[in-house]
Amino acid sequence: MVANEKLAMLDLIVETHVGLERQGPGSAEMTLKALSFLDNLEGISRVVDLGCGTGGQTMVLAQNINGNVIGVDICPAFIDVFNDKVKKLNLEERVKGIVGTIEDLPFQKEEFDLIWSEGVIDSIGFEKGLNYWDGFLKKRGYIALTCPSWLTDERPAEIEKFWVDAVQGLGTIAHNISIMQKAGYRLVTTFTLPEECWTDNYFIPREAAEKALLEKYTGNKTVQAYIEAEKYEVELYSKYKQHYGYVFYVGQKK
Ligand SMILES: C[S@@+](CC[C@H](N)C(=O)[O-])C[C@H]1O[C@@H](n2cnc3c(N)ncnc32)[C@H](O)[C@@H]1O
Repeated sequence: MVANEKLAMLDLIVETHVGLERQGPGSAEMTLKALSFLDNLEGISRVVDLGCGTGGQTMVLAQNINGNVIGVDICPAFIDVFNDKVKKLNLEERVKGIVGTIEDLPFQKEEFDLIWSEGVIDSIGFEKGLNYWDGFLKKRGYIALTCPSWLTDERPAEIEKFWVDAVQGLGTIAHNISIMQKAGYRLVTTFTLPEECWTDNYFIPREAAEKALLEKYTGNKTVQAYIEAEKYEVELYSKYKQHYGYVFYVGQKK
């Protein structure tokens, strides 16, 4: 593409994120920490990772579980990278990425022992996502997901507005736990991801990709606006991080 060709925001998001290890806050350590709360890992034979991106957390899971793992993501370019990683790691017999939406999954009722999902449930809403996905989980199966959540009961208007505009708002940890319990889950654990999951593992690599984008599309107004918006997100995090964070929720279906 040339510098002034029209670019859609979605293309820019994909171009910025496709080469990153993660497409959102997280880390291998936190994925393994969540996994460590599950009983009977040997008994887990079918896993789905919803909103898997290029598979950062999926490959960690697949290397620590013997069962089959399916990654689902709406972005074909991310799934291509995901399946390249699968090949490089010789995991083709057990791991596969497919293009699909988390709101209309092509699976059987109660097909999975474990539903994993880092960083996507907020896009459809915690309650809606949990209740829909629940149908695909076996009884006594586990769900482990991260969701940006409020850490405090009161927040400045600026950060409230940001999250309302982004995903129609966030819930507190207590609120999300009560949704899980009402949906029929025993709460196994929740924990908040440390700051470096946002900074070192996500914002810093993303900034490098944005710099390359600015150079590639010099003078392009859409690219500039996109990068400004991303910078604002980073500024807000540094200003208000005591009020919100990515929280892991692990539950077991009763
Ligand atoms: C914040 S990123 C997290 C990616 C990855 N799980 C991680 O933590 O690095 C959210 C991912 O969900 C995907 N996504 C967004 N909406 C989706 C939908 N409706 N169905 C499937 N995937 C979706 C995006 O393409 C993106 O890869």
